[in-house]
Amino acid sequence: MKQIKVGVVGCGGICKATYMENMVNKFKVIDVVGCADLIDSRAQFMADKYGIKKMTVDEMMNDPEIEVIVNLTYPESHFEISSTAMKHGKHVYCEKMMAPTFEEAKELARLAEENGVMFTTAPDTFLGSWEQSARKHLDDGIIGKPVTIHAQVTSHYEPETPFFDLEPKYFFFPLHYGGGFPFDLGGYYIHQMINMLGSVKRVSGFGGNLNPVRKYTNPKHPKYGETFEVNTPTTLLAALEFENGVLGTFHISSDSFSSRSFVITGTDGTLTLGDPNSFSSEIKVTRRGVAPTLEKIVPGQAPTTVSANGEVKVDNDIQKLGEACAAQTVTLPIYHGYSSSSRGIGLADMCYALINGRRPRCHYDIGLHAIEVIHAIEESCKTGKTYEMTTRCDRPAAIRPSALTESGQEATLDD
Ligand SMILES: NC(=O)c1ccc[n+]([C@@H]2O[C@H](COP(=O)([O-])OP(=O)(O)OC[C@H]3O[C@@H](n4cnc5c(N)ncnc54)[C@H](O)[C@@H]3O)[C@@H](O)[C@H]2O)c1
Repeated sequence: MKQIKVGVVGCGGICKATYMENMVNKFKVIDVVGCADLIDSRAQFMADKYGIKKMTVDEMMNDPEIEVIVNLTYPESHFEISSTAMKHGKHVYCEKMMAPTFEEAKELARLAEENGVMFTTAPDTFLGSWEQSARKHLDDGIIGKPVTIHAQVTSHYEPETPFFDLEPKYFFFPLHYGGGFPFDLGGYYIHQMINMLGSVKRVSGFGGNLNPVRKYTNPKHPKYGETFEVNTPTTLLAALEFENGVLGTFHISSDSFSSRSFVITGTDGTLTLGDPNSFSSEIKVTRRGVAPTLEKIVPGQAPTTVSANGEVKVDNDIQKLGEACAAQTVTLPIYHGYSSSSRGIGLADMCYALINGRRPRCHYDIGLHAIEVIHAIEESCKTGKTYEMTTRCDRPAAIRPSALTESGQEATLDD
């Protein structure tokens, strides 16, 4: 089969945890040629483990064999690596967010068009099993017409967490602007909202950097006890109006204790979504039972019900009335593949897009729109005014349902 040759820049945490394994062994369409990192030992480790070339970024950019640069650097290097790759005529897949600022993101989008290259951005978790199945259930009308969406994710991002890089030179990126909580975890929620509902039209927000001065509290850290400044918003609360009329709230904070909820309400039910930072989650619907359908209740009179076949009957059993009225919560079936950790699926989809001459599902217009949503919240926080979005994107093409085994699921991307 045709494969696409890729070069990977950035061999840090996420490359080691999942990406390289998936790119080399999970997705057949991807052919990893080489890897590079500012920290030589990280690139060497990956090269040795996976039998690929350790390269410099310069060698990779000038290698005519390499078609796609996979940018797994931290957000502060995204612009530098992606723009250099585009100027060398390479297609780019970049981890989230595509750039720390909306201005840089717009410039990357412009460069992609100017250089005629495909540019795709993470997160790609919205191509996962629960995310695609939730979209199918929504599109099939399980909650009727969607009315509101609510996303909330809060969690401490503290330097004592095991995530914190003990090498002081390589400061934990989620505490930087562009890598902060709204960008890092928020990106997953915004992408899944766009996947489900499409573009956002207007945004207003409150919040900002509520906790700028922090202390190194990990006793093992060389700077234990010292303070440092966090230069990124830490708590944002937004109201969103989608193009399709759905209204939403988005609450994201690294100042409070852990909480998470993600719900779409509709005219006929409520869809409880999973964790968009994960490929596997339970999804549930809460709605009234389907039969019998309650037609009318007149206080003091026996209720009239209509059974599924249209038969009308007077029901004197108040217990049955209770059952007919009660909303039930049901766990919904998952119809789609990629339920295990499948980071890199967006890159695999891009490779098929290149081979089949179609639009990639992680097209940069979603990433650009998502970064504008965060920019919009921040602007609204500053100005006290509602922000009118300037970018838009269509919902990405849905992936077809599949009962194929894990190794056969790739066929659903080859469309
Ligand atoms: N860590 C996670 O759980 C996670 C999950 C999903 C996505 N991501 C995303 O993946 C990206 C990387 O995250 P990470 O956790 O692996 O970060 P990291 O800091 O562990 O790794 C980034 C690597 O990029 C290298 N790098 C930075 N600039 C470079 C440059 N100019 N040239 C060559 N190498 C360079 C660094 O040396 C480092 O090894 C981020 O965009 C992040 O949002 C991370």
